[in-house]
Amino acid sequence: MNLFPKSFTWGSATSSYQIEGAAFEGGKGPSIWDAFCTIPGKTHQGDNGSVACDHYHRFRTDIELMKAMNLPAYRFSISWPRILPSGRGIPSREGIAFYSELIDALLEAGIEPWVTLYHWDLPLALQFEKDGWLGEELPRLFADYAEVCFSHYGDRVKHWITLNEPWVVAMLGYGQGIFAPGRISNSDPYRAGHQLLLAHAQAVERYRSKYQPSQGGVIGITNNCDWREPLTTSHQDRLAAQRALEFFLGWFADPIYHGDYPESMRSRVGRRLPEISATDRDLLTGSSDFFGLNHYTTMLAAEANQNTSSQVYGNGGLSEDQDVALSVDPDWQMTEMGWAIVPWGCRKLLQWIDDRYQHPEIVITENGCAFNDECIEGMVEDQQRIDFIRGYLTEVHQAINQGVNVTGYFAWSFMDNFEWALGYSKRFGLHHVDFTTQQRIPKASAKWYREVIRNHGFDPT
Ligand code: GAL
Repeated sequence: MNLFPKSFTWGSATSSYQIEGAAFEGGKGPSIWDAFCTIPGKTHQGDNGSVACDHYHRFRTDIELMKAMNLPAYRFSISWPRILPSGRGIPSREGIAFYSELIDALLEAGIEPWVTLYHWDLPLALQFEKDGWLGEELPRLFADYAEVCFSHYGDRVKHWITLNEPWVVAMLGYGQGIFAPGRISNSDPYRAGHQLLLAHAQAVERYRSKYQPSQGGVIGITNNCDWREPLTTSHQDRLAAQRALEFFLGWFADPIYHGDYPESMRSRVGRRLPEISATDRDLLTGSSDFFGLNHYTTMLAAEANQNTSSQVYGNGGLSEDQDVALSVDPDWQMTEMGWAIVPWGCRKLLQWIDDRYQHPEIVITENGCAFNDECIEGMVEDQQRIDFIRGYLTEVHQAINQGVNVTGYFAWSFMDNFEWALGYSKRFGLHHVDFTTQQRIPKASAKWYREVIRNHGFDPT
């Protein structure tokens, strides 16, 4: 039996734009994703999150499903434009009330809310008026918005996550243009990334100075990273894999744990990488109470000659800056996303984080997989998802045994939802959603996970 500590947090995660729907209801202002989805060709079949899982109207029944699993913790995000329709100013009463009711209903069901303040749905007004995350005022505006949330919900919410995956926002939103706001540039990602870090730091500062002392919660950031395994044992490939990790996770974690960007980035990106001022360094250093990690896959990394580097979704950065060629082992199995299933990569990444950042408390805030689940006679037998989660959790368990301080795991996702540019074509849920009728069905993986939660672990075979 792989037994986890009794205090280990078991959860599942979602995000506002991916599940809520009610995109133009309840006083909500438009977000950059509402707008991005209207641009022809940006999302699979023009899909959008206007209805999504209609969770806005169905959250109480969704909580019933969580209760049926005995889910101890649920990670969701607050939609900034639902709280502040134009990004700043007077909060929407309806928006405030919605999350207040959601939080109350979760607590009544015995489920601990873990709240992400930004999971990519920036108020559209801030994109038009401030140039989105490139805007100088964004860090302060984000901290103002965060403060509205702390003041209304902090009496009940004890786990806060400032940003979800700033790497994705910067790289896919401002570098490759495949996520909102759809910009393409080889310098804007570094500027946007810088502003995102400052936004995180300022929000944490507000929380720590005004709310944490009386409310007593914790606050952190969630970064995403795949593992990069050297293609060969050559010195060059090992350096390439290390560099790839520094451009991926070091970009956002080094400033928080070490006060500056990785040296490999400084020397290769040069002036396109902003300087961190002394004041900002003070704010950033130590600004996360835990290390939030979203992890999905592994790739092989090799020193690139200029012809082999590629820029693909899931790549660890602008390839010309890294000179890393990524590939996969042809023997690895793939999920529907085309992401390789490599559980040991998770353990290696956890150890890398433990070493580099002085043994932080790590919470896996997302891990999961998309498969072509079939609903047959009202049942979804997603054995592949069970195998995936069991495989990854086995490696997490091993990392814990080796001394890495992992204290929680959130399965992505509680239910099938809007998978960004891939629309409704990819299913990540523990619950199957029929997007026509909105019927939810617990998949076999939801039932398996319920047992894991109940037993604090599972049989590895
Ligand atoms: C993460 C993201 C989630 C979800 C997941 C699967 O990057 O935070 O919103 O989409 O990937 O692709």
